Amino acid sequence: MISNPPTKTSNLGYQVLADRITNGQITRIVVLTGAGISTSAGIPDFRTPGTGLYDKLAPLNLPYPEAIFSISYFTHTPEPFYAIARARHPGNLKPTISHAFLALLAKKNLLHFLFTQNIDGLEEDAGVPVDKLLWTHGNWKSQHCHKCHAEYPDDLMKNAIRAGEVPYCLKTECGAAVKPDVVFFGQSLPAEFEDRQKMAAEADLMLVMGTSLKVAPCSQLPRLVKEGVPRILINMEGAGDMGNRGQDLCILGTCDNGVRELADALGWRDELETLWKDA
Ligand code: APR
Repeated sequence: MISNPPTKTSNLGYQVLADRITNGQITRIVVLTGAGISTSAGIPDFRTPGTGLYDKLAPLNLPYPEAIFSISYFTHTPEPFYAIARARHPGNLKPTISHAFLALLAKKNLLHFLFTQNIDGLEEDAGVPVDKLLWTHGNWKSQHCHKCHAEYPDDLMKNAIRAGEVPYCLKTECGAAVKPDVVFFGQSLPAEFEDRQKMAAEADLMLVMGTSLKVAPCSQLPRLVKEGVPRILINMEGAGDMGNRGQDLCILGTCDNGVRELADALGWRDELETLWKDA
């Protein structure tokens, strides 16, 4: 289902954009993704009422839901984070067809850059080259003591996540809680973000998928796109200022259906389904 943006009618049709991609007029697609592209892989998002993570934290008696990812709270109470870690990082999940679509964009040399807010690593698993993406909120690939920053072994971390237990620094003089290298509220984004964000201004198409655009600075990326450059939102609901520009197109529905519709318009559907099957 395609709907014109709620505030301004878009003078751009779906097929018009697809034709501009296939005829080579659009070659630098910048993408911003959020938790909504991984929900069909089995990882709930954060804010969808009823199913999002933040609606399910009552038993953990947090002062407020986001405390679970707040560094100031983690330093004295790391237990709640590890109580939900396994659900956020169950391991060996299959990427969704939305992740496969991003890999297909890269394969066709159309992916200028991908900013993901997700920490699940499914973009890389789907085949997106790591030099074409930034985990703006970090990822689970490594972990360090939150206090002395000593490295911590991967296998011990995997055991801790599986058991839902807090891993502690192996340095006897420290013993503080270990944290995966994900960006918590109160921490800075990777230094690379500052430099990379200018790529949004280089885009000749911006694709925003599966995010509520509620958390800065990622939520500001679509605003960096030059006026007149088309922006597509594929999301269950409206987000940010998407839909306020004449060249915006809001596709309200699931990411997986949205990328299938886009692939059909591009003539890439079979290639996409095959790429996803082999991911
Ligand atoms: N298809 C399309 N949209 C979806 C789907 C889906 N299958 N599932 C969920 N959504 C939409 C929701 O409607 C919502 O607008 O994806 C969005 C997810 O929003 P959030 O739960 O807020 O997740 P996200 O935007 O990624 O959050 C950003 O907040 O908690 C922090 O660090 C965390 O990276 C996260 C950041």
